[in-house]
Amino acid sequence: MPQRISLTQFLIGEQRAGRISADLRLLLEVVARAAEAIGATVSKGALVGALGEAGTENVQGEAQKKLDVIANEILLQANEWGGHLAAMASEEVETVCQIPSDYPKGDYLLLFDPLDGSSNIDVNVTIGTIFSVLRNPQAKDKNPTEADFLQPGHNQLAAGYATYGPSTQLVLTVGNGVHAFTLDREMGGFIYTHPFMTVPVETREYAINASNVRYWEAPMQRYIAELQQGKDGPRGSDFNMRWIASMVADVHRVLTRGGIFMYPLDEKCRAKGGKLRLMYEANPMAMLIEQAGGAATTGRERILDIVPERLHQRVPVILGSRAEVERVTAYHLDTDA
Ligand code: AHG
Ligand code: MN
Ligand code: MN
Repeated sequence: MPQRISLTQFLIGEQRAGRISADLRLLLEVVARAAEAIGATVSKGALVGALGEAGTENVQGEAQKKLDVIANEILLQANEWGGHLAAMASEEVETVCQIPSDYPKGDYLLLFDPLDGSSNIDVNVTIGTIFSVLRNPQAKDKNPTEADFLQPGHNQLAAGYATYGPSTQLVLTVGNGVHAFTLDREMGGFIYTHPFMTVPVETREYAINASNVRYWEAPMQRYIAELQQGKDGPRGSDFNMRWIASMVADVHRVLTRGGIFMYPLDEKCRAKGGKLRLMYEANPMAMLIEQAGGAATTGRERILDIVPERLHQRVPVILGSRAEVERVTAYHLDTDA
């Protein structure tokens, strides 16, 4: 029987190789444990009353589902006491989440989208959790402020996501490639199943919410129209389309078999800057995709180079197979010029 490598063994290897500190290892283990707990609740669903509306709104004015609230609580509670964090930030919380004063503080900032793909909860389609880790630039005795979080994505020390689907998987980078782990539901714990995931340079599959076509900018309309013309159009080849409406699941497909994922700027979201959130959706996914050999831009600039202005800032996102991302980006820059 092939040897099973646990997440813990993998992380100890990364620590011994000097790629992560002991505290960052603890942080990643705690996030994995929280994902296991969220996954358990997700899989029980209606049996534990986890489906449906929470009856509240988050900071972004979006109706919260019960699982948005539950996942947020699980992540906050799991991470507050270990001494590895200086503070946290969550999609579901307006301001910085401080570490309670009864616990020691550490060097890291953790940001997360506790439950990604909320519209899929009640229909039993794959959802997930996305997270990003930054270093706290402040002295340890100070409470971090929002400004301490506003670092470009290329500063991320680690990024990843969990998917709650047919299996629960954890996908991770600490800056040395992308690695995925599958939860053993009977034995407990994540097992190393997908070393060094890569995104092929070329693809014939794209993901976009095409119902927004009339709101897109001209370069995006041109790109998608060309794909839809298939082998009869300028691309001379047929393209397939998929849209799950859970970023984790769509990005996981791109990481697994290639593709391009897009949530571009459109007239509906222009005032907000885009649909997806920079700091806990776009940045961690951009780091993962780049680490896997792909590319991630807004259509105009590299996502990881954006200097954030706000914790809950939104951005257009175009990521995946490099050749396609470069083409979409070139269409935008040509139009601008
Ligand atoms: P969240 O559930 O955290 O609010 O994020 C949902 C996001 C993302 O996962 C997905 O790609 C996108 O919203 C789907 O948007 P549409 O419903 O406009 O397709
Ligand atoms: Mn999300
Ligand atoms: Mn969410």
